[in-house]
Amino acid sequence: GLKKKDVNVLCLGLDNSGKTTIINQLKPSILFLYIHLISVLYAQDIVPTIGFSIEKFKTSSLSFTVFDMSGQGRYRNLWEHYYKEGQAIIFVIDSGDKLRMVVAKEELDTLLSHPDIKHRRIPILFFANKMDLRDALSAVKVSQLLCLENIKDKPWHICASDAVKGEGLQEGVDWLQDQIR
Ligand code: GTP
Ligand code: MG
Repeated sequence: GLKKKDVNVLCLGLDNSGKTTIINQLKPSILFLYIHLISVLYAQDIVPTIGFSIEKFKTSSLSFTVFDMSGQGRYRNLWEHYYKEGQAIIFVIDSGDKLRMVVAKEELDTLLSHPDIKHRRIPILFFANKMDLRDALSAVKVSQLLCLENIKDKPWHICASDAVKGEGLQEGVDWLQDQIR
């Protein structure tokens, strides 16, 4: 068949928001099964990312290379070194973490004002993740708190997601794929 177009995606957001869980869900199922088995064997969940990790997954028309960045404070300064490479951004928010919503907004604002991002029409997909938590904020509320309506020069979209069950992810990836082709 036709060769799929290669796209670099940056996966950003605070630590513990669910970036790695989302990327693992999008990876080929055999790989995910393997990772799942390992994590069960070690009796632990997906561990916090150190620095970053590079993952690949395909959709019907695209071949994504994802930079799964660590969201921990001490690693967030790594993000900007990859902005030039990024052709799309997935920004993940823990919808249950109301206390750190302002920190997420600060990081988003820093991202949006960076010279390597500011003047580019780069699509941004937001996941309002952990929607399964009882006190999770709705995607509409998250988008209000992050002032997403102020983003006028880039296509953006927000989806509620439950990365553990894999819910809401496909809708987001479909949107991203439509923005790129
Ligand atoms: P860093 O690598 O430290 O930046 O974190 P991360 O954003 O990659 O988060 P990670 O995927 O490691 O997930 C952190 C924790 O949240 C793990 O225990 C996940 O199982 C859990 N988690 C991820 N997504 C969801 C979700 O949708 N719902 C719930 N309830 N838990 C989730
Ligand atoms: Mg991670």
